[in-house]
Amino acid sequence: MEHTERFEASKSSEGRYRMLIDAVIDYAIYMLDPDGTVTSWNPGARRFKGYNASEIIGENFSRFYTEEDRKTGLPERALQTAEREGKFEQEGWRVRKDGTRFWAFVVIDPIRDSAGRLVGFVKITRDLTERRKAEAALRESEEQFRRLVQGVTDYAIYMLNSTGYISSWNLGAQRIKGYAPEEIIGQHFSRFYTEEDQQAGLPQRALEIASREGRYEREGWRVRKDGTRFFANVIIDPIYNPDGSLLGFAKITRDITERMNAARKLEETREALLQVQKMEAIGHLTGGIAHDFNNLLMAIQGSLELLQRRLPEADPKVVQLLDNARQGAQRGAALTQRMLAFARRQELKLVPLDVREVVQRMTNLLQSSLGPSIRIDTHFPANLPKINADANQFELALLNLAINGRDAMPKGGSIVIAAAERTDVPGLKAGHYLCVSVTDTGTGMEEETLKRATEPFFTTKGVGKGTGLGLPMVHGMTEQSGGKLVLKSTPGHGTSAELYLPVAPGEAASAAKEMAPRASNGAQKKLAILTVDDDPLVALNTSALLEELGHTVYSAPSAMQALEILRREKTIDLLITDQLMPGMTGSELARRIRAEQAQFPIIIATGYAELGPGEAEGLPRLAKPFSQRELAEAIARAVIPDASRRTIA
Ligand SMILES: Nc1ncnc2c1ncn2[C@@H]1O[C@H](COP(=O)(O)OP(=O)(O)OP(=O)(O)O)[C@@H](O)[C@H]1O
Ligand SMILES: [Mg+2]
Repeated sequence: MEHTERFEASKSSEGRYRMLIDAVIDYAIYMLDPDGTVTSWNPGARRFKGYNASEIIGENFSRFYTEEDRKTGLPERALQTAEREGKFEQEGWRVRKDGTRFWAFVVIDPIRDSAGRLVGFVKITRDLTERRKAEAALRESEEQFRRLVQGVTDYAIYMLNSTGYISSWNLGAQRIKGYAPEEIIGQHFSRFYTEEDQQAGLPQRALEIASREGRYEREGWRVRKDGTRFFANVIIDPIYNPDGSLLGFAKITRDITERMNAARKLEETREALLQVQKMEAIGHLTGGIAHDFNNLLMAIQGSLELLQRRLPEADPKVVQLLDNARQGAQRGAALTQRMLAFARRQELKLVPLDVREVVQRMTNLLQSSLGPSIRIDTHFPANLPKINADANQFELALLNLAINGRDAMPKGGSIVIAAAERTDVPGLKAGHYLCVSVTDTGTGMEEETLKRATEPFFTTKGVGKGTGLGLPMVHGMTEQSGGKLVLKSTPGHGTSAELYLPVAPGEAASAAKEMAPRASNGAQKKLAILTVDDDPLVALNTSALLEELGHTVYSAPSAMQALEILRREKTIDLLITDQLMPGMTGSELARRIRAEQAQFPIIIATGYAELGPGEAEGLPRLAKPFSQRELAEAIARAVIPDASRRTIA
């Protein structure tokens, strides 16, 4: 039945309108008479306001208004405005049947008949509560976001307009760059760039890249308000309007100066460690080679010496040849000494040394080595304490440094040797040191050369000119003496080599006395001597030198065999042993013997300082390679005259 009714209604245009309005549920559409009495009601109105048509038709529309609005006469004014101006439009709170409120968008239009007389109003109301909530939520979240961005202090977050002028500024930006918002908003962002970057057009390029590629990220130096620089990570994102046009840019800047510094430190430490490891490895290698070489040279030197003496009335030409060979062997020995010094395997005799005295003693040698075009000056303060160093090695070090200086000054110049006391040198044990420096006015070194200068065999002097062992020797000697070598150099201005060496402990004079060689009473006495060496070449050579001196020689290739011989031959007066041997070392052997014979004379012959602290204490040592004279002197020192015969059980 209802169907037929609707069908009937749809046939007239008025009917069609009614159907339309009845179908609308998202808008309340109803009519009022000129007094504001409700005369029609649609389902949308029912839905929003909660009244059925029968309840509300005939009532005044003012009941939809709030108490307050009614008091101020808003309903009446609304109708008057609509009548006067042809339309009333407003958003505001309205009241439902159940008393709850909703946010409404209201339009009131007057209805007139064909004669223009007012016959009523049509009122359309829309419930905007949801939209209002959504808007409020959006505003809230925008506000939260703004506060968040504003409050971030670790990042500078700010906006630029499309041409690069600053339009917002957060706390982080203020903290990192130093500008308050009122100082900087409206300024161009290029002022954060360095002079050079500004001139190179970097700021403009950054914006171009950001808008072309959708993002720009770089690291670089930026400038704070106070002019100081910081290393920044910068991100620029373009921001577009809904219509696709460029609104501006969001810029995020982070201060990563500290991170960069930390990374650089780490890299430097890593490099330093690598350098130390490299030197360590080269040291092992060099030390090993030098050790073998030393033994070979010793055999050559010894044999040449014997040969020279055994040649009856030698032809001067032969003597000349022998001399050449001996000089060659000596130069070789000097070289291996430098290598051993670098590898810190040199046998150092640390004694209190007066640097001023040493340098004075060397003046002639230095002057003749350096030539007339180089002036040598010395700067020593009064009361310079003595250093603890090996006299020969220290002299050699000074000579090496002076010659390096000469080589760096082909047109002449000056070398200054100076000394100054220093306490608590970085990198060294706490205590007193002397800094002995050799400074030239030569070519100086490039960074790369300076870095590698103490590497053994590193030389810039060309094949056959430099061995590249000078500085390594100095370096090894200072380190082994408990000090260090520091090289400072500026290309074009010269080089300064600083030797830090520990100041001698306690009373220097008495220590020096102790080192003086004893009177050689027993030198001429013929002895029975046992030599121990695992290297047959060295053993043979030592035996020959000893026999030539008139001694009776027993020879053992190992410590165990030496002990056996000692047990068997009760007449042996002296033991000369190598230190480094498989099975048992020389000092261990000495300990075994001394345990039973506290006074038994023993000499340790060794090319390098592998003796640990306290090891072989009190035993005379003989540095390899040794000459016959050195051997004889060592024997004289070791054998106490008139000592009673000892026996080994
Ligand atoms: N005073 C200096 N001025 C400029 N460069 C120097 C100086 N001292 C050393 N060097 C550089 O360091 C390198 C290594 O020096 P080092 O003394 O170890 O070996 P060398 O002088 O080349 O050879 P050697 O000392 O064995 O004759 C030199 O080749 C040179 O390039
Ligand atoms: Mg040199």
